[in-house]
Amino acid sequence: MNRLNINDLNSIQHFTKTWLMADFDVLFDTANLPSPLGEASRYVISNGGKRVRPLLVLTTFLAVGGRVDMPAFGAVRRAMLAIECVHGYSLVHDDLPSMDDDELRRGKPTCHVIYGEDVAILTGDVLQSLAFDVLGADYEFGMVSSDVVVQLLGILAPSARRMVVGQQADLNGEQKKLTQDELETIHKDKTGALIEASVLMGAVCGGVCDERMARLGKYAQLIGLAYQVQDDVLDVVADTQTLGKMAGSDEKLDKSTYVKLLGVDNARAYADELFDKAREQVSEFGDDNLLLQMVDWLQKRGY
Ligand code: IPE
Ligand code: IPE
Ligand code: MG
Ligand code: MG
Ligand code: MG
Repeated sequence: MNRLNINDLNSIQHFTKTWLMADFDVLFDTANLPSPLGEASRYVISNGGKRVRPLLVLTTFLAVGGRVDMPAFGAVRRAMLAIECVHGYSLVHDDLPSMDDDELRRGKPTCHVIYGEDVAILTGDVLQSLAFDVLGADYEFGMVSSDVVVQLLGILAPSARRMVVGQQADLNGEQKKLTQDELETIHKDKTGALIEASVLMGAVCGGVCDERMARLGKYAQLIGLAYQVQDDVLDVVADTQTLGKMAGSDEKLDKSTYVKLLGVDNARAYADELFDKAREQVSEFGDDNLLLQMVDWLQKRGY
């Protein structure tokens, strides 16, 4: 695959994966970190994953009329890496023995299993700082206006914090029976926040009007919540090999999940309902536009 085909989600996915690692290696001088921090950081980011969040940055940018030969594309590439670094950090900490205590992630041993808990904590920390470094460092300013950079930082910082707020609420919700409203808040924060940030950063780089931004924000909220509802369902219905992480992890920790609240079938139906509502928000971007294609792809994910 030599050239990006902006009408083909497979091609966009292929380039997203390639660009992420290329940009990570160019923008992060892991060789200058004391051992084994650089190696551990690279392990986390190179260790696969669906790359949903960077894909959302890119597909949103393209769907609103952005093109790869625009100066703003430099900011898109940085936003793609930044959001994946925050996500990677969130998973490293989420898997720690003191959190969800998981030893498998993306089919491989978790960061703390390989490098130890102390290094895993620091790896999460360094990935988070890298995200803001990548987004805010002095790059091609003049090509990308500093106003856009400030907006991107203003989206990512509170979203990263919302993810942490959600993680705390998730811990507080263990062994409890929460209401649907309470659970919805947790899911919107712990998982929705970074998904929302991805869409909004793509939109900012593409320069959309306020009205479209509001629609995109609703779209992002809906798929963000649906994504974690699906994660709850997959934890119960999929096997460890398919998931690349331990199946049944939520039940083991008596987590508050949509499956616990509604049962598998109703949780699935709820996710489908949210995805349908998300489609309505972005139908105006054209038949079979990339944001609709993303919903189709997310809805049928099996891991
Ligand atoms: C897993 O995220 C944790 C959640 C927030 C649901 P993903 O399902 O996007 O994980 P990767 O990046 O593809 O491994
Ligand atoms: C994770 O939720 C949300 C994060 C902020 C990382 P989960 O704990 O359900 O994610 P998995 O199932 O371990 O990937
Ligand atoms: Mg968790
Ligand atoms: Mg977990
Ligand atoms: Mg889960």
